[in-house]
Amino acid sequence: MWPISLVALLPLAASALAFPSPGNCEHKVKEELGAPPRGWAIHSPAPADHFIQLRIALPQPNFRVLEEHLYAVSDPEHERYGQHLSKEEVEELVAPHSESVDAVNEWLASHGIQEDIGRSPAGDWLTIRIPLSKAEEMLNTKYHVWQHTDGDYLVRTTSYSLPAAVYDHVELIQPTTLFGRFKPQKSSIKSISKVQSAQNSPAIGDMATGATVDASCNTTVTITCLRQIYNAVGYTPSAHVGNSIGITGYLEEYANRADLQQFYVDQVPAAAAVNSTFKFISVNGGIDPQNLSLAGGEANLDTQFAFGLSFPVPSTFYSTAGEPPFIPDEGTPTDTNEPYAQWLEFVLSHPSPPLVISTSYADGEQTVPESYARRACAGFAQLGARGVTLTSSSGDGGVGDGDPDPATQECITNDGTNRTQFLVGFPASCPFITAVGGTELFPETAVAFSGGGFSQLFPRPSYQDAAVKGFLDTLPNGTYAGLFNPNGRAFPDVSAQSVNFRVFVGGEAFLIGGTSASAPAFAGFVALLNDARLKAGKPSLGFLNPLLYSKAASGFNDITTGNNPGCGTQGFNATKGWDAVTGLGTPDFGKLVKLVV
Ligand SMILES: *[C@@H]1O[C@H](CO)[C@@H](O)[C@H](O)[C@H]1NC(C)=O
Ligand SMILES: *[C@@H]1O[C@H](CO)[C@@H](O)[C@H](O)[C@H]1NC(C)=O
Ligand SMILES: *[C@@H]1O[C@H](CO)[C@@H](O)[C@H](O)[C@H]1NC(C)=O
Ligand SMILES: *[C@@H]1O[C@H](CO)[C@@H](O)[C@H](O)[C@H]1NC(C)=O
Ligand SMILES: *[C@@H]1O[C@H](CO)[C@@H](O)[C@H](O)[C@H]1NC(C)=O
Ligand SMILES: *[C@@H]1O[C@H](CO)[C@@H](O)[C@H](O)[C@H]1NC(C)=O
Repeated sequence: MWPISLVALLPLAASALAFPSPGNCEHKVKEELGAPPRGWAIHSPAPADHFIQLRIALPQPNFRVLEEHLYAVSDPEHERYGQHLSKEEVEELVAPHSESVDAVNEWLASHGIQEDIGRSPAGDWLTIRIPLSKAEEMLNTKYHVWQHTDGDYLVRTTSYSLPAAVYDHVELIQPTTLFGRFKPQKSSIKSISKVQSAQNSPAIGDMATGATVDASCNTTVTITCLRQIYNAVGYTPSAHVGNSIGITGYLEEYANRADLQQFYVDQVPAAAAVNSTFKFISVNGGIDPQNLSLAGGEANLDTQFAFGLSFPVPSTFYSTAGEPPFIPDEGTPTDTNEPYAQWLEFVLSHPSPPLVISTSYADGEQTVPESYARRACAGFAQLGARGVTLTSSSGDGGVGDGDPDPATQECITNDGTNRTQFLVGFPASCPFITAVGGTELFPETAVAFSGGGFSQLFPRPSYQDAAVKGFLDTLPNGTYAGLFNPNGRAFPDVSAQSVNFRVFVGGEAFLIGGTSASAPAFAGFVALLNDARLKAGKPSLGFLNPLLYSKAASGFNDITTGNNPGCGTQGFNATKGWDAVTGLGTPDFGKLVKLVV
């Protein structure tokens, strides 16, 4: 086990801490960026009348215990495998120490903030909405309007401080130093092209697997293709065994129900016959416009494939409010845009979240402040402990950012030293997420944009020790020295098809690609596996990775061709066994269902 939440391990138990009056004690720097993330520069002073919604994380002193429970219930060899924790048990394990609660309350009260404090069910997150001038006084900092070279604006600071009395009782406060560039992982090389109608073509056989796959699947991927390639033809899940699947939506990406119907008519006739649709859940005011002109390519791709593969499993689409972009001259009234924490707090407060949830949006790990990445990752662990599987796209730039122009590639560290380094995607780099890379064609090969590599932040979890060491041993001595962290959490964990997915958007068919397609597709197969387990009276799979790297490893098609170039290199090679392009490989549902039920 390794500590995920370092601040939580501070000796809070030394209980006789005295709290000097918060007003008159010195501030100490809590977090400071060596430099603003690449591309951002100060544009102007922050507007005086700007309001900011600050989220304050209190330390979770027992997180390590939660993590031990998580590994116990997720290890197929453990006697407690599958005995997931309840919402209340998880909340108890992440609750802050009462001294932290008191100290922070006292600090807020000393600034006149006593009411209108939002509190998460576990009490580990507080939310306040205050004028920027007040935030600057409380955090002894100065906010500015920052502009990105591509035109985005944010109100942020590069450092903030806290008085000694609360310093150890606060793990982080955002938005301060989070210059997130959270974006959909719809590949930039996707070239959305309109297509007329699904072609029929003769079936082809793959001698190695014995699978029969329509030849058209080489150029157009449908639900039928995925079921053929991943050996799930004819498997029918139930709507009535307590199963569920969810898709997250951000950034004003809306899933359209009429498009879903059209997709079902095209690819899932049984779902079309009953007008199957998803349940909509608004997070933090996220909206659900059904105007066809607002249908999102990403949201439609994710919902159509995840829900189409798992029909009739009950499905949910979460729309998390996409903050309007901050426009300096128009004085956008609030500025939040740190969506993981909002979504996590919401979904953790739900008594029965979907049993598998897929996310196709990501940030560069180095643009997410370390404290925030650790805390969001700790939130993903809480869902895992409750029996929820989380899948996430591994990224669409290979080991880099997908930019072919060396002059503008972002393969450079943010810490002020400007070292060249492979890029890493978050949340894929969190060890409690199942990161899904990309393949193409049949027989399958790695797709060149498949994000893969090694976290600079999270150490390698023991569940992937053997697999990753085996891969590192295949690298010639000195390969890419300094460009990646060989001791980091390695990703992706698995992969799936990722180009030419036939999707309906705004009433028309398009081909869309990216690891954005792989993650919801993989989640669809997890829902089918959960179906088989639930029918057998067993609990959901929950946090998958310890199972994937052990008992279930032989249920994957090993992908051994292709590589993921980036940052001026050829990237890593897909190899026999786990590799940093396709992970363990693509699912063979027929084999997996025997291994996991
Ligand atoms: C799919 O495309 C690949 C690469 O072009 C080719 O090698 C393979 O034979 C094709 N498969 C079929 C069944 O046409
Ligand atoms: C599905 O929706 C269509 C159009 O809205 C309607 O004509 C049809 O009766 C519906 N079918 C079912 C089974 O509800
Ligand atoms: C749909 O949205 C577009 C663009 O915002 C708008 O022009 C159109 O009037 C809307 N249509 C309906 C039926 O609301
Ligand atoms: C790193 O790059 C930034 C932006 O190009 C530049 O301002 C800074 O001086 C560089 N730092 C070093 C140590 O080279
Ligand atoms: C790689 O380098 C290490 C230490 O320099 C050495 O012990 C090892 O034998 C080398 N391996 C190969 C395959 O050259
Ligand atoms: C990838 O494979 C090619 C061809 O075998 C080899 O030349 C290259 O060194 C390999 N790269 C890495 C990073 O393993």
